Amino acid sequence: MNRCAADPCTVSPPLPRAGEGSGEGSKQPPLLRIRDLRVAYGGIHAVKGIDLEIHAGELVTLIGANGAGKTTTLRAITGLLAWQGTIEYDGAPTRGVPTHALLRRGLTMVPEGRGIFTRMTVLENLQMGTAARSDRAQAADDIETQFTTFPRLKQRATQLAGTLSGGEQQMLALARALLTRPRLLLLDEPSMGLSPIMVDKIFDVIRAASHRGITILLVEQNARLALEAAHRAYVLDSGLVTLQGQAAGLLHDPKVREAYLGE
Ligand SMILES: Nc1ncnc2c1ncn2[C@@H]1O[C@H](COP(=O)(O)OP(=O)(O)O)[C@@H](O)[C@H]1O
Ligand SMILES: [Mg+2]
Repeated sequence: MNRCAADPCTVSPPLPRAGEGSGEGSKQPPLLRIRDLRVAYGGIHAVKGIDLEIHAGELVTLIGANGAGKTTTLRAITGLLAWQGTIEYDGAPTRGVPTHALLRRGLTMVPEGRGIFTRMTVLENLQMGTAARSDRAQAADDIETQFTTFPRLKQRATQLAGTLSGGEQQMLALARALLTRPRLLLLDEPSMGLSPIMVDKIFDVIRAASHRGITILLVEQNARLALEAAHRAYVLDSGLVTLQGQAAGLLHDPKVREAYLGE
C-alpha cells in the first residue's frame, strides 16, 4: 500500500521526479559514477561488474536480498575495501583517496549497524559529526536543529550512546551523518531491526534531507519502503544489477513485486 494513500501527505509528499534538469542528457556530470565495479573477498566475488550513477539531488535506492552485495558496494564507494573498476565522485576518480578525505568532500556513510561510539555520550557523538567543520557557531546551531528533529536525542544528550535503543541509535547515526553536511549520503539499511513507528520516523528524516537537496544512496532490504521513497532504483542480485529505473515504475514491475515485495 502506498503510505501516502493512507496518511495525509504533509510530512512525506511525493518527491519531485529525479534528475529534473540534472538527469540523463544534461551536461552536469553525475555526483557519483560507477563503472564495472568488481569486489572480491578472496575467492568470493561479491560484486561482479556493476554500473551505477547518481545525479545531484537524487534519492536513489539499491535494493536486493541479503548477500546481494549492497554493503560491499557502499564500502567500495567509501574506500573501505579494495575494488576494481571506476568510481568517480564529484567528477574525480576516488582510487587511492582515503575514506576521511572523501568525508571532507561530503561523502558520508551511515554503515550497517550504525557505527556510533557507544562509550561516548549522545552529545559527544553529535559533536564528532561536526568535528571536521570550520564553521563552529553554525555547527553548534545545527546540533540544536538535530535535537529539534529528534527530541529523544536531546532528552538523552548526556547518556552514553550504548544505552540507547536500536531506533534511537539509528536516529543518532543519521543525525551525526547530517551534521557532517553531506553532499552524498550513503545509508546502509537504516530500517533494519526497527519498530514500524521508528522506521516511519527515520524515513521521514531521509525524505526531508532529500528535499533539502542532499543526494542520497539508500541501501535497503525493505524494498517497498525504499521504492516509495526513492526517485530511481537499482536491483542487485548476486553481485549484478538485474533491473534499474524509476522507483515508481519498479514498484509496479511484476518481477520486482514477486521477488522483492512478497507478492
Ligand atoms: N568480510 C567478508 N568476507 C568474505 N565474504 C564476505 C565478507 N563480507 C561479505 N561477504 C560476502 O559477500 C557477499 C555480499 O555481501 P554483502 O555486500 O554484505 O551483501 P548485502 O549487504 O547485500 O547483504 C555475500 O556473499 C557475503 O557472504
Ligand atoms: Mg548489507
